[in-house]
Amino acid sequence: MNRTLVICKPDAVERGLAGVLVARLEAKGLRLAAAELRVIEPDLAEQHYAEHRGRDYFDSLVKFISRSPSLVMVVEGPEDTWKIVRTLMGPTNPAEAPPGTIRGDLATATGENLIHGSDSADSARREIGLFFPHLG
Ligand code: RTP
Ligand code: MG
Repeated sequence: MNRTLVICKPDAVERGLAGVLVARLEAKGLRLAAAELRVIEPDLAEQHYAEHRGRDYFDSLVKFISRSPSLVMVVEGPEDTWKIVRTLMGPTNPAEAPPGTIRGDLATATGENLIHGSDSADSARREIGLFFPHLG
C-alpha cells in the first residue's frame, strides 16, 4: 500500500465540505489510513509549508491554514497514490482548475483552495511523519 498526506483545509471544514472531499477520494478507490480533526498550529504549519518560506503569500498561508480545524488524513491506495490525489484536486489556482476536479468544482480562490495533497513520494513521507509520527 502506498500512502500520501491529505488535508481538508479550514475552508473545507467551515463550509461543511469535508465529507464531500473524503467521499470523492473514497469513490476513486482510495482509503483512509488515519484521520484527525485538529487545528494546525502556526509552528507546524510553517514546517509543513517550509518550502514556501520567504514568498509574499507565506504569512497569509500560515494564518489561513491555522485559523480553524482541518481534517488531516493519511490516504492509501496503489502506486503513486499522491499523484492520483493531485489529479483529483486540480491545479492550485481554482480559476484554472477544470470542472470535475475538487478545486475546479468547489473553489474560487488560490488562498482558499480546500485541499492539500503531498506533491511527491518524498513529500508524502515527510508530511506523514510531521502529522502522524507513529506512521512515519
Ligand atoms: P497545497 O500544497 O496546499 O496542496 O497546494 P499546491 O501544492 O497546489 O500549491 P503550492 O505551490 O504547494 O502552494 C501551497 C499553497 O500556497 C498558496 N499559494 N498562493 N498567491 C500565490 O501565488 C500562491 N501560491 C501558492 C495556495 O494556497 C497553495 O495551496
Ligand atoms: Mg503544495
